[in-house]
Amino acid sequence: MKKQTLLRRLSLLLVACLVLNFSAVRSSAEESARRFFPVKDLMRVGVYYYPEHWPREQWDRDFANMEKMGFEFVHMAEFAWAFMEPEEGKFDFEWLDHAVELAARHHLKVILCTPTPTPPAWMYEKYPNAYMVGADGRRREHGSRGNNALADPDYRRLTERVVTEMAKRYGRNPAVWGWQLDNEPQGFSDYSPSAQSAFRDWLKARYQTVDVLNREWGANFWSLKYNSFEQVIIPNPTLLYGPSPHALLDYRRFSADQIAEFLNWQAALIRRHTDPAQWITTNYISNIGNADPRRSDALDFISYTMYPVSGGANLGEEGFRLGWQDGIAFANSFYRSIKGVTGVMELQPGQVNWAWINPQPAPGVVRMWLWHAFAGGCSFACTYRYRQPLYGSEQYHYGIVGTDGVTPSPGGLQYSQVAREMRELRAKFAASAQPPADYAARRTAILWNHENLWNIDQQKQTGLWDTWGHMFRYMGITKSFGAPLDYVSEADDFSKYKVLIAPAYQLIDEELVRKWQRYAEAGGHLVLTARTGQKKRNGQLWEARWAEPIYKLIGAEVSFFDLLLPEGKGEVRLSGETYPWNVWADVLKPLAGTESLAQYSNQFYAGQSAVTYRRVGKGSVTYIGVQTKDGRLEREVLREVYKRAGLSTADYPAGVYVDWRDGFWVAVNYSSRLADIAVPKGAEILYGATPLKPADVLVWR
Ligand code: GAL
Repeated sequence: MKKQTLLRRLSLLLVACLVLNFSAVRSSAEESARRFFPVKDLMRVGVYYYPEHWPREQWDRDFANMEKMGFEFVHMAEFAWAFMEPEEGKFDFEWLDHAVELAARHHLKVILCTPTPTPPAWMYEKYPNAYMVGADGRRREHGSRGNNALADPDYRRLTERVVTEMAKRYGRNPAVWGWQLDNEPQGFSDYSPSAQSAFRDWLKARYQTVDVLNREWGANFWSLKYNSFEQVIIPNPTLLYGPSPHALLDYRRFSADQIAEFLNWQAALIRRHTDPAQWITTNYISNIGNADPRRSDALDFISYTMYPVSGGANLGEEGFRLGWQDGIAFANSFYRSIKGVTGVMELQPGQVNWAWINPQPAPGVVRMWLWHAFAGGCSFACTYRYRQPLYGSEQYHYGIVGTDGVTPSPGGLQYSQVAREMRELRAKFAASAQPPADYAARRTAILWNHENLWNIDQQKQTGLWDTWGHMFRYMGITKSFGAPLDYVSEADDFSKYKVLIAPAYQLIDEELVRKWQRYAEAGGHLVLTARTGQKKRNGQLWEARWAEPIYKLIGAEVSFFDLLLPEGKGEVRLSGETYPWNVWADVLKPLAGTESLAQYSNQFYAGQSAVTYRRVGKGSVTYIGVQTKDGRLEREVLREVYKRAGLSTADYPAGVYVDWRDGFWVAVNYSSRLADIAVPKGAEILYGATPLKPADVLVWR
């Protein structure tokens, strides 16, 4: 096929992906995702294996040991392009056939992966254009992974062929449980010629004429104005004085659409040849920034990867060993919310190799993470990887077994323990179990759109601002209240939730404001936070007073915002107590009928409002304009919102998560302190004890 025709087809696919109605697809997808994972199976436990890294005569022993340790599935073929297609067009699946057969013999279901992030050396030799170009203009050569240019027609043609060959060969094999596409897909920035032209096609489809593009990008500024789409080049962050924020926002949208389209396209290729019982997913990094997991909507469900101990200090003195307390909590809720089903495809088995400092995880904490994955709804948990590699970039990465290939690592033993515990739990599962009423009533949603993240992060206005961190603060508060949490998109039905939090929702339109208004009128309790409503969807400010489109909704004006230096000592008062802030302060002027819940108590605007609350119809709208240093004020405000909404709240310490799933309560503790957990009298404790130790698990029913 001619390159140009293929390119045109690719861009048409991208456009189709843009106009797809997400919500319509989702509701039926939710039902279909569930059919792959019967509720009674709870969470299945599995492991990555790379047969191509090990002598063939060891495979049978390795699968036998996996089975003995309790694993129920194995994940293979990821990154094995050079083995499946050693020379262009010459395929060799004999080795994989054998590995799949051996795995099945040991009662391991198989997840197969498409090898698309690792193009073989022959590809670079013959099609160097199939590789990305960095912001520095240099081609990302063969020698690592993730260096493929997604829009390159040769890369696409070769991908189509290898993926189709795999699907034909294994699509009807009963040993194959499902498919993972690519690996940790990301909207990497690519400046290659194929990316440049795909970006232009995307812009043409979006704006039709260059005049519209110029208007939406505000291209009169600095004479950036274009005469034709052909003049547009991908905005490069290395430019002196930085590129246009509007161009960058669109480039992020394009990159996210492009990787989503790539995945949706792979899924369609596979589905042509597979049994409908085989599912298709991919494994996004938990808080992936540049890709937007909701856009790969042709997949059956989305799974995630998580490495909690990777150099962060986290909570308390042992936090660096206990792991990032927000990671699994966020990923469980975020990914489960997309299609009603999720799983963790990679969960750290022990020490990793790639962080800036790689500590040993705390004894027992791998088991705690697995239970946390279970509590948050994961239908499976899988670990990267079975054997610690003896060579290659990840030599220092722990496996389920150590360098001798047979001795379980501490994390390996914990995986084995959880695999056993899951079997015990299945025996106790009762299909009739219903979530306790007070717990179910406080189900909360966070409204999240990656576009806000992209736009804010280009123009933070203060180096102290952290967009993810701002949202995680609100997530942490709702979890400390013991609320089940979902993430919703603007297309979703908000009415299922008594409380809806939209943190730093910077890009809005009037339709969204009306939807928020209707939600509150019907009895919902809406919480908006700092920076909300400042801009239109194209990233331009409103030609109105500052953030004026939300004034009526919140019942207040946003007079201006202030930012302090790291040592700044801003103060805000709530119910007689003073809280320090220095990151962000929207200064509010309540309108008639709106209550001022908290006021700034120093700076030149002392006495003006930081938090407002207004009753709207049967519900309410709260605006929290300040980001305090430690989040205590935000917590108190939210507690008041829940109270006024008639919802009870728990009071768990930071890093302690307590969730109910399928008849079982699970508590985990990432804090460095003992935590008292109120287990009701008469409850049957299945594992653990209260007070709950750090890194430990308490399960009761
Ligand atoms: C993940 C990646 C895996 C492996 C792992 C090592 O991010 O998906 O392929 O590289 O890191 O921790």
